[in-house]
Amino acid sequence: MTAQETYKRTLAFELADKLAAGKELSDDELACVLLCDQPGFGDYLAEKARAVREQYYGKDVYMRGLIEFTNICKNNCYYCGIRSGNAKAERYRLSEEQILSCCDAGYELGFRTFVLQGGEDPHYTDDAIVSVVRAIKERHPDCAVTLSIGELEKESYQKFFDAGADRYLLRHETADKEHYEMLHPAEMSFDHRMQCLRDLKEIGYQVGCGMMVGSPYQTTEHLVKDLRFLQEFRPEMVGIGPFIPHHDTPFADREAGTVDMTIRLLSMIRLLLPDVLLPATTALGTIDPMGREKGILAGANVVMPNLSPSDVRGKYLLYDNKICTGDEAAECIRCMAMRISSVGYEAAVARGDHVSFRMQ
Ligand code: SAM
Ligand code: FES
Repeated sequence: MTAQETYKRTLAFELADKLAAGKELSDDELACVLLCDQPGFGDYLAEKARAVREQYYGKDVYMRGLIEFTNICKNNCYYCGIRSGNAKAERYRLSEEQILSCCDAGYELGFRTFVLQGGEDPHYTDDAIVSVVRAIKERHPDCAVTLSIGELEKESYQKFFDAGADRYLLRHETADKEHYEMLHPAEMSFDHRMQCLRDLKEIGYQVGCGMMVGSPYQTTEHLVKDLRFLQEFRPEMVGIGPFIPHHDTPFADREAGTVDMTIRLLSMIRLLLPDVLLPATTALGTIDPMGREKGILAGANVVMPNLSPSDVRGKYLLYDNKICTGDEAAECIRCMAMRISSVGYEAAVARGDHVSFRMQ
């Protein structure tokens, strides 16, 4: 190794130590941690991230039951397989009764958080969402309800919260306005999405934001901006996963994000926000058969097995080759629990609130 190489290597590891010690890094230093390709560096960072997550959450990995209740969406995001412009997507909606029976089955299987996710589907009025949230909370008062149904006005978010919803996931997608505009049609607004996140926080939700890794036109500077946004906004949850192309979208021919960059970011986010709830996502498991295990080893502490009825699973296709579209819920859980224990962690049957929201 030349003197210069030794210097570069030492510097990168020192930056990892600095990050793990909670010290502030400059934008250039964050970029250096993101890009460092020194042998052993990713493992070193992941080890630091695991130590931090274990301080707050021990070996627990929280399981969330994901119910994808509609794939109808009024939006036309360029990257998304269920965008309104995709005439080939086979559309479906679940009734309140169907959603409740998914929750009942999930409850029996041990889930204590239900995540209701869908496209922005105006069929579900505020009253319809309020009704389903209330019904879940009445049947299962010991469970948390997470909503992930996109951008709405503050009054609607408030109604859902008053009905008992605990958490809300709304990825910011990118913290750079120009980049946002390259990923979305003109009628969608970066400022409105950011306003929604602030509204959700003000109301009192546990809020999740996040971005796709390797989305088209994304640069290292954009990712640094995303990290800065997370540091400043301090969400309780951060959902990140690789961008994966869908064949019937304008980004069909783009390259997917990589597993290495996704797990590098998971470790960095864990170190920047030590107590954050951080999922190892299905998209990560889609680009690498061991993706979710690698995510957990990089500092993730949440997984979201699918509880949607098996006849609609194969229709919520945001990207190509999505995994777990054929299995029964019970099978998904068994598989997930096994994956978690194979890397030395434990599938936790608990609501799994953010530490700052735990009821004493
Ligand atoms: N409609 C809600 C919203 O906009 O927040 C929730 C559903 S939306 C499909 C959930 C997330 O899927 C998006 O925030 C986006 O980050 C992710 N997603 C969409 N298309 C994707 C793709 N091609 N690859 C990876 N992730 C994708
Ligand atoms: Fe609406 Fe993807 S475009 S969920």
